[in-house]
Amino acid sequence: MLTLIKDLTTKLAPRLIEIRRHIHSHPELSGEEYQTAAFVAGVLSSSGLHVQEGVGKTGVIGELQGTGNDERILAIRTDMDALPIQERTRLDFISRTQGVMHACGHDIHTTVGLGTAMVLAQMADELPGKVRFLFQAAEEIAQGASWMVKDGAMENVSAILGLHVFPSIPAGSIGLRYGALTAAADDLEIMILGESGHGARPYEAIDAIWIASQVITTLQQAISRTQNPLRPIVLSIGQINGGRAPNVIADQVRLRGTVRSLHPETRAQLPNWIENIVANVCNSYGAKYQVDYHLGVPSVQNDYSLTQLLQGAAEEAWGSDRIQVLPEPSLGAEDFSVYLEHAPGSMFRLGVGFKDRVTNYPLHHPQFEVDESAIVTGVVTLANTVYKYWQQS
Ligand code: NI
Repeated sequence: MLTLIKDLTTKLAPRLIEIRRHIHSHPELSGEEYQTAAFVAGVLSSSGLHVQEGVGKTGVIGELQGTGNDERILAIRTDMDALPIQERTRLDFISRTQGVMHACGHDIHTTVGLGTAMVLAQMADELPGKVRFLFQAAEEIAQGASWMVKDGAMENVSAILGLHVFPSIPAGSIGLRYGALTAAADDLEIMILGESGHGARPYEAIDAIWIASQVITTLQQAISRTQNPLRPIVLSIGQINGGRAPNVIADQVRLRGTVRSLHPETRAQLPNWIENIVANVCNSYGAKYQVDYHLGVPSVQNDYSLTQLLQGAAEEAWGSDRIQVLPEPSLGAEDFSVYLEHAPGSMFRLGVGFKDRVTNYPLHHPQFEVDESAIVTGVVTLANTVYKYWQQS
């Protein structure tokens, strides 16, 4: 079966590169993937899939019915949105939209999803169950997966697979991870409410800027002194606003940040832990405060047996020296985790780095580029994993 999958994919490769370049030159921002969605729907329906548009706002679902009576549904998720970045590559198919770029490789994900659908559609006789392809909107703002789930995308799904490109892994190779792949990412907003006064007489005021700086320092130190270092937490305050004039004590400061963690138990205690620290510092100096801790996406926790299935399928296709089992998770975030609240799944990293280049620019860089040969690697890996999924009891 692997030979058939590889043959079908090789035949499709020129068309897939065309598709990828088309999507790359027409990027759309999160939640605005209208043309991309219409294009995806067109390719899916001309390949014989049953297509539903407008799922999760601008998302698309394509379903491929196999010929057997296995009731399991295997889902494959890809994302379609681009970023507000001005592209600075020299590609012929550079973005035609000012200030918008596929700098996170979602053009590759969409193409790999379409390629897998096109290949599997030609071997539907070999599939005893149903494959549901999810093309979601708005991954970059961590919303699209929730929108898809709300519209029923995960109904009756028994397992889900996903991928993300990775420029530091060479094209032709794949990275897998058992357990945690990405972190939970939550939003934090802290208001420090002091009292204004003359810059010359701070003892008559309550200096919100000085107290805010104590809050930031205490939070960073307290992570190292009160939290288990084997259960990582990263807390970054990325925005701070307050004050009106150099000689006036500020009465208000707003801090905004992101909080990353890997373990659900660590995450669960973070809102109270942060609020206590803020309260203690503020109470010491007479300031009032408000803490808003907003839960974002959870950590992607790859299922053991599905990761094993992926590894087996990938090793069969490419040999074990091209499959890396990643020793560490990332503290980045991925809304793939939202699907995992409804079914077990596994997400892999598709290498897209050029072997002959010294610099492979990172994701979200205006000069980010991918080695397109990775498209075939992605399609064969996914199609072979889907085929093998039905083989296991
Ligand atoms: Ni991405």
